[in-house]
Amino acid sequence: MRPNGQPAAKHETYSTGARHFHWWTVLLIAIQLPLGIFMVNYGERTNFAAPTGKMYDSHKMIGLLILLFVLARLANRFLNGAPGDEPTLEPWQRIVSHITHWAIYALLLIVPLLGWLATSAYGPFKPFGIPLPSLLAENQYLAKQLYGLHKLSAILLVALVAMHVGAALFHYIIRKDGVLNRMWPGLPRRDG
Ligand code: HEM
Ligand code: HEM
Repeated sequence: MRPNGQPAAKHETYSTGARHFHWWTVLLIAIQLPLGIFMVNYGERTNFAAPTGKMYDSHKMIGLLILLFVLARLANRFLNGAPGDEPTLEPWQRIVSHITHWAIYALLLIVPLLGWLATSAYGPFKPFGIPLPSLLAENQYLAKQLYGLHKLSAILLVALVAMHVGAALFHYIIRKDGVLNRMWPGLPRRDG
């Protein structure tokens, strides 16, 4: 975003680094969400038969990776900023898109942190036998509450991402402006 809040100049677009961060996050979330839902259902149906434990351990590891990755992405975002708003956006669309982007960033931190907190409270936190730092002392009641919040925040993330993808496609297909090109890997700006 430009410091003076002005719309983007014609050449402004997301950097290659920002696009890499965006699409690697999309890939990791596209694996992590269905894995989370599938492992819980599979565990319930089979009384936690193999390979449920491996799926849980993979989910925990990928979740921690997402957390580290998002921290690196945010550091890059704060250091290098983002392009100014696309000139075709109405004032209300600028406000809604900024709120949505920052809410998604917040949830990309909150969802894995709640997973880590819940798993710490459930204890011991040893995915694939590797002892990792626990954030809380063992407490089964608290673990249950935190897993509930983990699920709720993941649902919220899905809802916001659905809105976000809907908006990106609306701009590309209906408004035919440059919003999607700013983030799509390798594409130049779509002006005019
Ligand atoms: C962005 C990262 C993450 C996403 C999107 C995510 C998403 C989900 C989803 C959708 C579920 C299924 C909820 C249900 O149906 O009950 C789930 C369950 C679970 N998640 Fe995550 N998760 C993430 C990170 C983590 C992390 C970092 C940990 C632990 C270190 C973790 C541990 C768990 C566990 C243990 C469950 C099973 C809970 C149960 O058995 O009720 N998750 N997650
Ligand atoms: C898990 C899925 C996704 C997440 C978590 C996500 C997250 C984000 C975030 C946080 C931003 C703000 C970037 C910044 O300014 O720092 C962003 C921008 C953007 N995303 Fe996504 N996104 C996802 C999926 C998608 C998909 C599937 C599309 C395309 C169909 C898409 C298209 C865009 C576009 C075009 C922008 C730039 C918007 C602008 O120019 O203001 N995103 N995304």
